[in-house]
Amino acid sequence: MNARGTHSAAAKAKWDRLQKSTLLPQPRYGKVFKSHIFGSPTIVSTDAEVSKFILQSDAKVFVPSYPKSLTELMGKSSILLINGSLQKRIHGLVGAFFKSPHLKAQITTDMQKYVLKSMANWSYDRPIYIQDETKNIAFEVLVKALINLDPGQEMESLKKQFQEFIAGLMSLPINFPGTRLYRSLQAREDSVPVLLTLAVKYLSDSPSALQQLLEENMRLKKLKDQLGEPMCCSDYLSLPFTQTVITETLRMGNVIIGVMRKAMRDVEIKGYLIPKGWCAFAYFRSVHLDESNYDWPYEFNPWRWQEKDTSNCNFTPFGGGQRLCPGLDLARLEASIFLHHLVTQFRYLLSRTKPYN
Ligand code: HEM
Repeated sequence: MNARGTHSAAAKAKWDRLQKSTLLPQPRYGKVFKSHIFGSPTIVSTDAEVSKFILQSDAKVFVPSYPKSLTELMGKSSILLINGSLQKRIHGLVGAFFKSPHLKAQITTDMQKYVLKSMANWSYDRPIYIQDETKNIAFEVLVKALINLDPGQEMESLKKQFQEFIAGLMSLPINFPGTRLYRSLQAREDSVPVLLTLAVKYLSDSPSALQQLLEENMRLKKLKDQLGEPMCCSDYLSLPFTQTVITETLRMGNVIIGVMRKAMRDVEIKGYLIPKGWCAFAYFRSVHLDESNYDWPYEFNPWRWQEKDTSNCNFTPFGGGQRLCPGLDLARLEASIFLHHLVTQFRYLLSRTKPYN
């Protein structure tokens, strides 16, 4: 569908092609099916309600578990694999960053600083690789937030928490304690660069969305300039169209395609049995691209979110339940800051001649 709600024959043909070529629920298998795709017996759920149940269950029912082939790809320290008290502590630590107004302001200033620093080096005579640029920014923000904590009472208590946490890790039989936490968070930090790279791509293909994004951000920039005030965290997050662009990119882009769990006992959900010891794969991508949940699911249409709520089980880019991504606000903030400065300072053209991997 285009921005104003009309479907072209070309779009329909593209949708039919995509339907056939991707791993979408095929009616003959149903929405929940058995597979060995990762080398372990796995129940794949493409059903939003079944996936919701999997996400909401605690560690007595399901624990995170990824087949060997995948853990080798992700690295053993991946945050997706951590469980028990370690998981709770990391979760709390990341969540704490966003609960404190002082930290929030600090992180916004830092993110802004690194985004502007990166963009200051851009020039019109060479291509800019968005994923590389955003990776550098995300890395700098993370290092600043975790290591170079500025002085202040709140910072002190957080630093203490962090040191205790590292000390706790030392007592565990893991190779290199500090690096483990760092690497796990860093692995997670790759998701924002992927999100932004996709946003730039989708916006390039949707001039009307880009135009509306530009207008919204320009309006705010002019207002702030007139008032002589710097942009703050709530300014960035208050731009409604910018948020729908991020939401739509999360839906279509599926930065995390799904999560896996292992059943600790036989579990029955909506008439499906997941036997003890089997893996369950909550496949978000399939739910996010399901025609019965979203009209014209392969169309980048930020406007669809103007009437739709993001808090429902058909939209889970950040997971859900106890393991809901604690970095979700940070991710949205970072994305909003980057998009704001990108559209208000640059006109860009997507290079189609030289694919970059
Ligand atoms: C577009 C960006 C992001 C996406 C799509 C994303 C997605 C997710 C998802 C789906 C999970 C749940 C995993 C599960 O249920 O097993 C998760 C967990 C997590 N995320 Fe994010 N994330 C993003 C950004 C971030 C950022 C920026 C941080 C922190 C700096 C972060 C930190 C974490 C942590 C610590 C967990 C583990 C939570 C736990 O197990 O309790 N994420 N993320």
